[in-house]
Amino acid sequence: MYRSYYLFGALALLGWISLADGEPKKLVVFNSIECTLRNNVFPKIECQLYSRTALNVFVTIDDQKAADKLVGVCDVKLMNKGQNKSTHIKNLRLDFCQLKKHTDTRSLLGAYYQAIRRAVVNFPDKCPFQKNTTYFVNRFNFIGQDIPQYLPEANYTFSGKIYANNKLGLEVKLTGGYYEVRNLSVYTNPLL
Ligand SMILES: *[C@@H]1O[C@H](CO)[C@@H](O)[C@H](O)[C@H]1NC(C)=O
Ligand SMILES: *[C@@H]1O[C@H](CO)[C@@H](O)[C@H](O)[C@H]1NC(C)=O
Ligand SMILES: *[C@@H]1O[C@H](CO)[C@@H](O)[C@H](O)[C@H]1NC(C)=O
Ligand SMILES: *[C@@H]1O[C@H](CO)[C@@H](O)[C@H](O)[C@H]1NC(C)=O
Repeated sequence: MYRSYYLFGALALLGWISLADGEPKKLVVFNSIECTLRNNVFPKIECQLYSRTALNVFVTIDDQKAADKLVGVCDVKLMNKGQNKSTHIKNLRLDFCQLKKHTDTRSLLGAYYQAIRRAVVNFPDKCPFQKNTTYFVNRFNFIGQDIPQYLPEANYTFSGKIYANNKLGLEVKLTGGYYEVRNLSVYTNPLL
């Protein structure tokens, strides 16, 4: 059971295959992002949608203590179009100290790692994340990643808890959908 959920989720949240111009394409769209600091682990954080398909995150590490471990524990809930059924994928673990190691791209987790690797600006190859330093995730998106276009349209909510040195520091909530889009520029133009 878990396995089939996992595969479904993997497929549903990947990017899109580019088709001939003008044809509708399904893609992963973001509706909202909300970040909440916890426990004074990070002095500063900024989360924002750059466009309907890309988001930016800046996080500053504590000015006294480097982060030897930086881990995200994530839940994804998918709601298929026209159905009441939802699929819940729990406890996806993203290790930001191991971004280079996870090169599988056929799973949901692999898709996240791939998208993160493309978006990180100054992440270290190896931990720690240096104290009193701001790290940038620039235009995180799923565009350009292959996804089978026959997959069903869905809405999703994503929630991630980010732990630094095993302490909860940040909660991220993201909502959006995977659906057909005719005018791509509406979704890729900057919102600001
Ligand atoms: C942190 O960095 C800023 C400049 O980036 C500096 O002004 C400040 O003194 C530093 N704080 C500590 C505790 O090192
Ligand atoms: C996604 O949610 C929006 C409202 O938030 C709704 O209008 C839309 O039909 C939903 N799409 C799918 C595929 O469920
Ligand atoms: C979905 O749920 C609504 C009420 O929440 C119900 O009226 C409807 O029949 C359900 N549809 C299906 C396909 O189960
Ligand atoms: C797509 O949307 C942009 C505005 O974002 C508009 O300028 C353009 O004309 C639209 N293209 C088509 C083919 O509708």
